[in-house]
Amino acid sequence: MSYITEYQASIDSPDTFWADKAKQLPWFKAPEKILSDDENGIKRWFADGEMNTCYMALDHHVAQGRGEQIALIYDSPVTDTKMQLTYAELLEKVARFAGLLQANGVSKGDRVVVYMPMISEAVIAMLAAARIGAVHSVVFGGFSANELAVRIDDAQPKMLITASCGIEINRIIEYKPMIDRAIEIATHKPSKVVLLQRQQCIASMHEGRDIDWAEAVKTANKAECVSVSGTDPLYILYTSGTTGKPKGVVRDNGGHAVALKYSMSAVYNMQPGDVFWAASDVGWVVGHSYIVYAPLLHGCTTIVYEGKPVRTPDAGAFWRVIEEYKVKAIFAAPTAFRAIRKEDPDAKLLAKYDLSCLESVFMAGERLDPPTYEWTKQITGKPVIDHWWQTETGWAIASNMIGIERLPTKPGSATKPVPGFNIQILNASGQSLPPNTQGAIAIKLPLPPSCLATIWGDFDRFVSGYLTEYPGYYCSGDGGYIDEDGYLFVMGRTDDVINVAGHRLSTGEMEEILAAHDAVAECTVIGVYDSLKGQIPVGLTLLKDGANISEADLQAELVAMVRKEIGAVACLKQILVVERLPKTRSGKILRKLLRQIAENEEFIVPSTIDDPASIDEIKTIMQTNGLVKPSVE
Ligand code: COA
Ligand code: AMP
Repeated sequence: MSYITEYQASIDSPDTFWADKAKQLPWFKAPEKILSDDENGIKRWFADGEMNTCYMALDHHVAQGRGEQIALIYDSPVTDTKMQLTYAELLEKVARFAGLLQANGVSKGDRVVVYMPMISEAVIAMLAAARIGAVHSVVFGGFSANELAVRIDDAQPKMLITASCGIEINRIIEYKPMIDRAIEIATHKPSKVVLLQRQQCIASMHEGRDIDWAEAVKTANKAECVSVSGTDPLYILYTSGTTGKPKGVVRDNGGHAVALKYSMSAVYNMQPGDVFWAASDVGWVVGHSYIVYAPLLHGCTTIVYEGKPVRTPDAGAFWRVIEEYKVKAIFAAPTAFRAIRKEDPDAKLLAKYDLSCLESVFMAGERLDPPTYEWTKQITGKPVIDHWWQTETGWAIASNMIGIERLPTKPGSATKPVPGFNIQILNASGQSLPPNTQGAIAIKLPLPPSCLATIWGDFDRFVSGYLTEYPGYYCSGDGGYIDEDGYLFVMGRTDDVINVAGHRLSTGEMEEILAAHDAVAECTVIGVYDSLKGQIPVGLTLLKDGANISEADLQAELVAMVRKEIGAVACLKQILVVERLPKTRSGKILRKLLRQIAENEEFIVPSTIDDPASIDEIKTIMQTNGLVKPSVE
């Protein structure tokens, strides 16, 4: 089968194409409606199929004789712990925890928020929710109490599942005070909190509300799988949009399972029994899809790694894990490899390990810059595959589909559209652009399985955020071009979303926080180039008349505010005080222009600019402060 035949089939007759892929999964009742309209007029996949994602990921494999195979490997250099669970063992733990959820009143359609570090219990909590038809919403451990509270209020969970602490390099992050604070701030109060006590930190319990995980599972009954429909929600995952309020991307059960199962063979070339390692975090979409669901749906072994690419204990950590567990494919963010390269540029540590088990290195989460691509390829001697995707899709939109046909790679390109994704490059008026011309990357509707069909509780935001700008298309928010050979080059976001160390953040949200400071009259936050993290946010502020604060004090206060409100992961460390910012005559800050200056791109001065001299002024300030991307990466 060639890539082009497969791709064309998916575009010419999506129903037939995906009906065929759906047959790879054990449904309780196979879907007959493959693509149909929902009550909002949005195309949905497998609406009348009946299924359970946890059944497909665990019970089915045990029933098929895979019970003794390792399903999950937990490797934690930060606690010096290693542990493995077979499919049968993982199923037992998940069924029991699901019983605990049921005994505490959680049932089909109820939400549970999971705020956990990278431990096997995070995976157990997610699968247990799926088992009883509940909807999980995992919040990344690097987010603050405030961010957690925002998500609690939006998802309205019955229960919160957490651990006593997370562990960063040489630092214990106590979760419980954050949980208590989040519940205090939130208007909605989850009735129960399940707490996993970790020996590194024993947290206090809130009488009548908190349940001790270890104690409660001892007496819990095992829960059976609850049947859900293909379009019932599996999870909500919040992601940054252009405003302060995160968007709850809703993932359905059926389309998600079908797309992920297909991707394991088609995108990653994995066979059941192989070991797959996504070195991400369960708090991000990569973690949801490729630490938890896809490897298990496909009968592979997955790795939950509680550590970093460097300093846990050194820049050889990735190579050690690959050798130790015979990893066939690793998937990580380019930042991780830049971090390794920074500490071990000649890859001396790699020489200690045998990577013969490794077939490919996959990267996503941010643009894979050609130098990082070349370096990783050279030191590992393996194909490095850049693939582009988003929380909204749950799987790759463009990739080299090595399980179908390995195409030649081009540095800087995510190769070609994945089957099901009809990618077009559009200009501002929605016309398709010719090859090698940069524009907005849009996907012609209908979207393939797994992609979002709404924002939790806010269908209008889904329509206005994704479907309105280019009627008939999903607007990705990324810009780029397709070359003469059909290769896609994703160049970066065209909105106020930035990618910091592979973490998606909203500059709009940071601006709202800065603007709340007494001394700040106006401000903007832009993402600027960073050789390690890809981008980092920098705040540009104008002070109110008469504000009496030094630049250093202002910076310290604003940095602390952002860290408190969003979390350490925001990484806002630099604030500049400027005399003025380029604006339109109606007073809007020209953010796009600032982004283009930071990216060292050509730009056209908008005719609506208030004072053209402000551009040179800000450009000089940005250059002086090292905020303009160097010409050569
Ligand atoms: N819980 C609590 N705090 C966290 C956290 C978590 N899960 N993850 C990150 N943080 C904190 C870090 O400790 C750091 O705090 P500090 O400012 O006090 O040092 C801050 O958030 C910023 O973290 P990060 O940007 O990750 O920087 P780092 O120096 O800790 O690590 C890398 C740098 C490159 C090693 C790391 O960012 C990395 O591995 N990136 C890959 C990201 C990834 O896999 N993304 C998923 C998409 S595929
Ligand atoms: P997230 O939703 O957190 O997965 O972030 C999605 C965003 O990350 C995309 O909109 C892109 O801006 C960026 N991204 C992800 N993968 C790639 C890639 N391979 N190349 C370029 N940008 C990417």
